[in-house]
Amino acid sequence: MKDVYILAVETSCDETSIAIVKNGKECIYMNVLTQMDTHANFGGVVPEIASRMHTENITMVLDDVLTKSNMQIEDIDAIAVTYAPGLLGSLLVGVEFAKTLSYLYDKPLIAVNHIAGHIYANNLTSTLKFPLLAVVVSGGHTDLVIMEKDYDFKVIGKTLDDAIGEAFDKVARVLDLKYPGGPNVEKLAKEGKPSYKLGALHNNDNYNMSYSGLKSSVINIVHNEKQRGHEINKSDLACSFQTVAINQIITKVKRAIENENIQNIIVAGGVSASKYLRGEMATLCQKYNINLSIPDFKYCTDNAAMIGAAAYPLYLKQEFASLALNASSTIELF
Ligand code: KG4
Ligand code: ZN
Repeated sequence: MKDVYILAVETSCDETSIAIVKNGKECIYMNVLTQMDTHANFGGVVPEIASRMHTENITMVLDDVLTKSNMQIEDIDAIAVTYAPGLLGSLLVGVEFAKTLSYLYDKPLIAVNHIAGHIYANNLTSTLKFPLLAVVVSGGHTDLVIMEKDYDFKVIGKTLDDAIGEAFDKVARVLDLKYPGGPNVEKLAKEGKPSYKLGALHNNDNYNMSYSGLKSSVINIVHNEKQRGHEINKSDLACSFQTVAINQIITKVKRAIENENIQNIIVAGGVSASKYLRGEMATLCQKYNINLSIPDFKYCTDNAAMIGAAAYPLYLKQEFASLALNASSTIELF
């Protein structure tokens, strides 16, 4: 079969990213232009600034990708783009850009869901083996999903309130850590011990999770200690939070392994960049002899290569989008 080259565009949040991906498995070249330093000044992503910066930078990012890959758009088989979910203004920049390329160069357009991107990021490092359990842990998602085949999703558990990444980001804020919170909480946690007692978890007999109680416990400790004029041991508090937050994922995945006949597990989403989570997942899967896949660090957080990987099964099925494609901040994958 002829090789398939997909040019993928991802602008759902604060990264302007374009990549060329071969056969859904090999990233030929990728540029991820992050706006992190700009948004760090405001303590989080400012949507209006994000979309304006995407508009300013996206053509430059494309030029760089074509130059460095030594390819031209004529060599490309399809244009893929993240159309949902995410920040609407940011998504729209990518969608309009991809639609323009598709129209100008007469290339099929592929609409990719951002979370499918995180899942298929695993195909860039290993190969998805079905059936599998996908552990989706990001800024907006905390889901346990069984996949029997490509684009077949059965959710067996999810967070009942906040997403795990969101909790990391809120805890980072209350500990005066810079945006993005997750990696900074992890860095601080390394220097601490889990000495703080934090809120109870959802330890009932299903696969659902909860992060808002845990987040509130951290916030309450900080406020109470401040009011009493006590010093907070920030590294111990970060370590205590991280231990409980990640342990909840591990507990539910363990339960799934014991009850659901699972041989393959993949981890997806920004929180999969957590070295602590990676270590705990590896230990668990080793114990139960499960085949574990976690993307390379560069494919864990938002990037266009994962969108090219997720577009490939849709290309094979000839599931193309029309030029009427619109962005959506809310359309969910499952
Ligand atoms: O997948 P992602 O890039 O964006 C969404 O699609 O939501 O995930 C970003 C989330 C943020 O909440 C960030 O704090 C978290 O992933 N994150 C981490 C780590 N690196 C990123 N959380 C914990 N530990 C990390 N090392
Ligand atoms: Zn993401």
